[in-house]
Amino acid sequence: RRGGRVLTAFARRGGALFAEDVAIAELAAQIGTPFYCYSAAALRRRYRRLATATATSGARIAYAVKANGNLAVLSLLASLGAGADVVSEGELRRALRAGVAPARILFSGVGKSRDELAFAIAQGIGQINVESGAEFERLLDLAARARRRVAIAFRVNPDVAAGGHDKISTGRRGDKFGMAFEEAGALYDRAARHPFLEPVGLATHIGSQILDLAAFETAFERLARVAARLRRRGLRVARLDLGGGLGIAYREDERELPLADYGALLARIARDSRAALTIEPGRWLVAAAGVLVTAVNAVKRAGPRRFVIVDAAMNDLLRPALYGARHPVWPVAGREGAALRAATVAGPVCESGDVLAADVPLPDLQPGALLAIGQAGAYGAAMASAYNGRLLVPEAMVSGGRFALVRRRPSHDEAMALERLPDWTAA
Ligand code: LLP
Repeated sequence: RRGGRVLTAFARRGGALFAEDVAIAELAAQIGTPFYCYSAAALRRRYRRLATATATSGARIAYAVKANGNLAVLSLLASLGAGADVVSEGELRRALRAGVAPARILFSGVGKSRDELAFAIAQGIGQINVESGAEFERLLDLAARARRRVAIAFRVNPDVAAGGHDKISTGRRGDKFGMAFEEAGALYDRAARHPFLEPVGLATHIGSQILDLAAFETAFERLARVAARLRRRGLRVARLDLGGGLGIAYREDERELPLADYGALLARIARDSRAALTIEPGRWLVAAAGVLVTAVNAVKRAGPRRFVIVDAAMNDLLRPALYGARHPVWPVAGREGAALRAATVAGPVCESGDVLAADVPLPDLQPGALLAIGQAGAYGAAMASAYNGRLLVPEAMVSGGRFALVRRRPSHDEAMALERLPDWTAA
């Protein structure tokens, strides 16, 4: 039962959970828990599957760095041909350092600062997605000062409700993202007359963890209609950036976005719009390629509940606490057929909301036993914090029988190194 569809890169051999050819327990012994473990083979497999499914459309894949910005993950995806979708100077610098060609980088984000835009222009990145009038004016000025041509696209809000959770739905009229069609059109005109701005097209992104193809279809068709309207006014609309948001199956009883249908939709949009397409997937590429490994600290009862207290917490994996996300939990050692009973896996952080998985079926566990929390490669380490004085969670990557610590655990001294005591606090 545990060898199901969502467990591909992390398989059980003789009662022990492996990441490719490396035993998770062996990694835990070397690194200490908690830590994230990524599978290079799984990353490659996911990338190739998506590239193949979308090949007919010619869509370029710009990996959304926010899902997992680890340099090893970025460099692996870049080596497969991925570009990058970044939302801050930090992510842009990561993409560059990992070897993503500037021309393959696009800059999204609802509130880019003047300094960030200037940096992006100086690097000569492939596209900047404009999200507001103020940002447009800033770009106008910066491009003229730098005397460099800057390719821009306008992110429009298609007014479509989609996404796995209210907090990650972005394309409704009242959401903070993008611009209304009319405003984007007016700015497009102005950009087309500007000597340094080059309006290349339109962009949209309607939300994340989308399982319903119809939402994408509505949004993409609206975007293509706006492109057609702009072209009738004599404007050049060469590119359509369709955003990310492809939903995955978190649990074995869930279904991911039907990929073949998504690919067919892109092919139709490409054909009808005669535009070069880009997509910005994050989660779909990396979620299944990562687990969070944690050790049991204590098992206790609280009223009707069996609590398994582990050494990972909401600061390491925020999704369950923030969105009520349901990640699968797998014992790292365990014989097949052991009796399973409901347990709630919770961390040591001092909040009742610090639950990693509520009421999941688990065997009897003793302190020291290891658990792997699945589908954690996306928005796991990327959203980690040091809350409760905890050390930022380390990350390992496995490839075949090899592994590398691709981000080590900091020391406590390092964690405090940026702080300074003024001479009047202790006096
Ligand atoms: N492009 C833009 C402009 C975005 O805002 C996002 C995600 C993506 C692409 C990638 O979306 P994806 O393919 O990963 O769904 N922390 C949340 C997800 C937030 C997504 C924010 N934007 C979570 O853990 O579910």
